Amino acid sequence: MATQAKPDLTSVASDHGARHVAIIMDGNGRWAKKRLLPRVAGHRAGVEAVRRVARAAQDLGLECLTLYAFSSENWKRPASEVADLMGLLRHFIQSDIDEFHANGVRLRVIGNYRALEPSLVDLIEGAMARTAGNSGPIIAIALNYGAQDEMVQAVQSLAARAAAGEIAAEAIGAADIDGALYTAGLPPLDLMVRTSGEQRLSNFMLWQAAYAELYFTDTLWPDFGADALAQALDAFRMRDRRFGGL
Ligand code: IPE
Ligand code: IPE
Ligand code: MG
Repeated sequence: MATQAKPDLTSVASDHGARHVAIIMDGNGRWAKKRLLPRVAGHRAGVEAVRRVARAAQDLGLECLTLYAFSSENWKRPASEVADLMGLLRHFIQSDIDEFHANGVRLRVIGNYRALEPSLVDLIEGAMARTAGNSGPIIAIALNYGAQDEMVQAVQSLAARAAAGEIAAEAIGAADIDGALYTAGLPPLDLMVRTSGEQRLSNFMLWQAAYAELYFTDTLWPDFGADALAQALDAFRMRDRRFGGL
């Protein structure tokens, strides 16, 4: 058979209907292992995939792409790997922020990023402030993110407001919780993708995923790219979303 035609991103862009896609970028370590390389080589290749997929998200007309880069549980990894990941992240923001800004992208970091090293916090806040006034798509990077932590801090902030008499406890609703999460202001989540064959959410966007479509692929994150994202959106387009109705 002839080689497969490259998906036409513009035709997928026009009719997939998704506004917000989140990706659990998994499989960097296994990608490296298959090549007898150190795990950090997988993470470096993973950064290249982030660049490809961020560009594709813009071409595909997404309003928001959220990428799970470091979980609140990833501190359990050896300190050297954590340092490699933080170093790659720092380098990524420094080297790519100009391109994001030039393309009108708004960079958001979600998660407890304020607990990271002060110079990294400054870099993140500078990048967010610089791009905050842009009108293009949002690229949200989940860093030191855990959905249970996110809910704990949301409950704490709502409880503090209730204790201060700003809101009545019995009047707290889903919209208040939405507004107290790290993802406040992002469009509703349509599609959650996980690479590398694992089929779990690993503490990612548990509240936001209530009615998201789930898409699992065996592709390892460093092998993921524009075509793979277009394929996921094609699958999404075929789903019948009911939100509990008929
Ligand atoms: C994803 O790849 C990157 C992060 C979790 C930071 P992994 O490092 O989890 O790769 P595997 O799962 O070991 O292959
Ligand atoms: C989820 O991947 C976290 C990120 C992709 C940042 P993990 O590799 O940490 O998840 P588990 O341990 O396999 O559930
Ligand atoms: Mg993993």
